[in-house]
Amino acid sequence: MRNLHRKESQQEARERSLSLSHPKMVGADDSHGADPATYDRYRELKRFDESQAGVKGLADSGIARLPRFFLRPPEDIAADRHCSGPAAPAGLAAPAGLEIPVIDLGSLAAGGRPAAVARVLEAAREVGFFQVVNHGIPESVLEGVLAAAGAFHELPAEVKAGYYSREMGRKVKFTSNFDLYESKHANWRDTLFCVMGPEPLDPLELPLVCRDMMMEYSRQVKALGTTLFELLSEALGLKPDHLLKMDCTKGHALLGHYYPACPEPDLTMGTTKHSDPDFLTILLQDQIGGLQIYYRDQWVDVPPVAGALVVNIGDLLQLMSNDIFKSVWHRVLANHVGPRLSVACFFTLHLYPTTRMYGPIKEILSEDRPALYQETSLREFITYYDSKGLDGTSALTHFRLVK
Ligand code: OGA
Ligand code: NI
Repeated sequence: MRNLHRKESQQEARERSLSLSHPKMVGADDSHGADPATYDRYRELKRFDESQAGVKGLADSGIARLPRFFLRPPEDIAADRHCSGPAAPAGLAAPAGLEIPVIDLGSLAAGGRPAAVARVLEAAREVGFFQVVNHGIPESVLEGVLAAAGAFHELPAEVKAGYYSREMGRKVKFTSNFDLYESKHANWRDTLFCVMGPEPLDPLELPLVCRDMMMEYSRQVKALGTTLFELLSEALGLKPDHLLKMDCTKGHALLGHYYPACPEPDLTMGTTKHSDPDFLTILLQDQIGGLQIYYRDQWVDVPPVAGALVVNIGDLLQLMSNDIFKSVWHRVLANHVGPRLSVACFFTLHLYPTTRMYGPIKEILSEDRPALYQETSLREFITYYDSKGLDGTSALTHFRLVK
């Protein structure tokens, strides 16, 4: 409500006045058979970047074939076939043997806490991923924030271009492929990236179309994060507030992802396999599906469950838990059907000038269980992760004491 008595900003006026105009066409190399002798990959990446229209700009221009820099290299596709049987097209059922655990948080106060802690421990240790239901965030808020993120991505390209950036330090930015110039191939995904804390974000920095919903979701998902870090602390045999005292919920970023319908989904990826560079991620996905985790040499679907949120352990929590919790690889398949929307909440102190060092928690170490990692600051960790890009290796290896 606090925004009612304020004059409309220039950016908002542009959003309104342009809302009927048409997205600009971005020039695309629409033949992936282009002559290798004359193909200038850097020039094509730059052209895409400078369009500031993201993947949605390409999709809207009506291309039938992917620009070449989106193509997965043949060795990637072959490796996939090797480890997951068939090349796991979108919608393929999970291999027998694993279902992503679904944990009910509805009865924590009514005696259900020990059982929930046990399930969280098992899921975080064995799978690294679980879904939560009865988590306290109303469905109207979940639907609202997905719709709001979608509405941002569906603004005219000219308006979104005002937010487009690759700057590390920007708190609110529209970006496509943060590792565009480093990765082996681009992903079929755009992102609205918003750092919501520790320093409270001025709501006016958020695009008007998603401002109120992002602020509301941020507040609610932070409260859920607090509950989860308490359960995770207990799962490690620590006091409930142990991870909170280590500032695990002090900051978070919201990432509103948009995966447009893809003309050649088998040739690219929505998101290349990666693990998350944070303490913990709470992910809200819509009903389209495509998220998979790598489990025992197989890609396993994380099926959309209505009203549920997906929770996964990030690299930093694997490091702090000395490998008790697992930060596992996951990816998102591209799909003929779209757009697919998701909103990820990364608990991290991204950009915050903390000097706190993070290493394996002393209380869980012993002679039999020596520290497996060196300590690192968040800045050092994130800088390393970003410089590496999503190259299919784990950033944790870099910080491991025994390689
Ligand atoms: C991420 C992520 C999955 C999705 O943001 O790190 O893995 O479904 N997102 O968008
Ligand atoms: Ni992720």
